[in-house]
Amino acid sequence: MAKILIIDDEKAMRQAMVQILRDEGHETLEASDGSQGLKLIQACEAGDRPDLVFLDLKMPRTQGMTVLKTLGSQLLELPVIVMTAYGTGRTAIEAMQLGAYDYITKPFPLKTLLSLTEKALAHAQTSVSVSQTNILQDLDTEELLGQSAAMAEVFKLIGRVSQTDATVLILGESGTGKELVAQMLHSNSRRSRSPLVKVNCAALPEHLLEAELFGHEKGAFTGADHLRIGRFEQANGGTIFLDEIGELSLGIQAKLLRVLQDRSFERLGSNQTRTVDVRILAATNRNLETMVQRQQFREDLYYRLNVLRIDLPPLRDRLEDLDLLTQHFLKRLAIQHNFPKLSISEAAFQKLQSHAWPGNVRELQNTLERAVILSGGRILLPDHLSFGQMPKPDLNLENAIAQLEQDLIRRALTLYPYCAHEALGLSLEAFHQKREQWNL
Ligand SMILES: Nc1ncnc2c1ncn2[C@@H]1O[C@H](COP(=O)(O)OP(=O)(O)OP(=O)(O)O)[C@@H](O)[C@H]1O
Ligand SMILES: [Mg+2]
Repeated sequence: MAKILIIDDEKAMRQAMVQILRDEGHETLEASDGSQGLKLIQACEAGDRPDLVFLDLKMPRTQGMTVLKTLGSQLLELPVIVMTAYGTGRTAIEAMQLGAYDYITKPFPLKTLLSLTEKALAHAQTSVSVSQTNILQDLDTEELLGQSAAMAEVFKLIGRVSQTDATVLILGESGTGKELVAQMLHSNSRRSRSPLVKVNCAALPEHLLEAELFGHEKGAFTGADHLRIGRFEQANGGTIFLDEIGELSLGIQAKLLRVLQDRSFERLGSNQTRTVDVRILAATNRNLETMVQRQQFREDLYYRLNVLRIDLPPLRDRLEDLDLLTQHFLKRLAIQHNFPKLSISEAAFQKLQSHAWPGNVRELQNTLERAVILSGGRILLPDHLSFGQMPKPDLNLENAIAQLEQDLIRRALTLYPYCAHEALGLSLEAFHQKREQWNL
């Protein structure tokens, strides 16, 4: 059973708590003010310290907050539950910021006292500390991790194809690491000293994307008041990564097919054909085969892209990787947030394993970051993990159109500050109305 210290100036309160905790089989210590409590903690040998402290905030002489401040980083190992009769949010926030484990307002029911005690003690026992053996030398560089058979296949493929100039199609659900694979393919290739140029094909409407990819001459269209080098030319000698390729319009698909065939294209507003030496990587989370069947994606382009393909397995199909990934992200979060004692309880880890991870590794990363903050840098418990907070797609058409309008206007204003209305196909009057409407 555990050793529990109660720091409270009210004798009756201490006695009541001692009684309840002893009935549960715990050993108790008492202190009637903060400095006495601190002395008790410090006097104990390291292995003999209390396992849990209940701390009253408002006491004569040394107050509860001072105790928390004095304990400082020791609070990462010693759970302190703060009690106060003054239940203002501000004291609760301050106590948690100082590193208290939990907070209750007096009077509290017996049940709460016992369940809190149990919860606080459970962590200490079942926690698995974040392993100190370093998986990665440099936690800042993002690296694709995995020890499952499925990821081993992915690594092998990357190894085989990175040295070639072959086009690679990277497929996988959202958050499975497609962009990371593209980066690895590039950095392991002989083009690694040349640029890796990324284009998100979903981010721009058709005519702007075309100018983005292929560039345009000065005066190519209204608003094109200077020459613009396209992304293919920028990537010359290196690699271009076409992300979200499933979102390309059929018009651009045709132009892209030509680049894939002979690396040639024209800038908008020019009939001079240019050729580039570019390796092409493409990714999508859409099912291109279905899109081909529905005639939303050109079959010939699909075959050109699909020379080599890397399929990234969803996280739920390789839960063997969960441990490694969790350790890795926790270690990084521990460093980022300066939480040297961060660990995860077995129960929390089990909860991670029973989730389906629709957002894959990205969702895991976000879930852990949230949990780490909620845990205050101690032990991640099942309660700290909440799922389903992935932004749900807002299917409301009106909202979506309003959002799109604002995005387009902003983009037009950046690209064509003097004739944004023309780029948007609006009269000057209609344009001003829209700007006013959206406060842009
Ligand atoms: N196997 C992995 N090991 C380590 N980190 C990973 C792994 N897979 C993904 N990540 C991380 O998860 C996040 C999402 O990865 P990435 O952006 O590559 O996903 P994606 O497949 O491109 O997703 P989307 O389709 O939504 O664009 C990134 O922060 C990435 O570093
Ligand atoms: Mg991506």
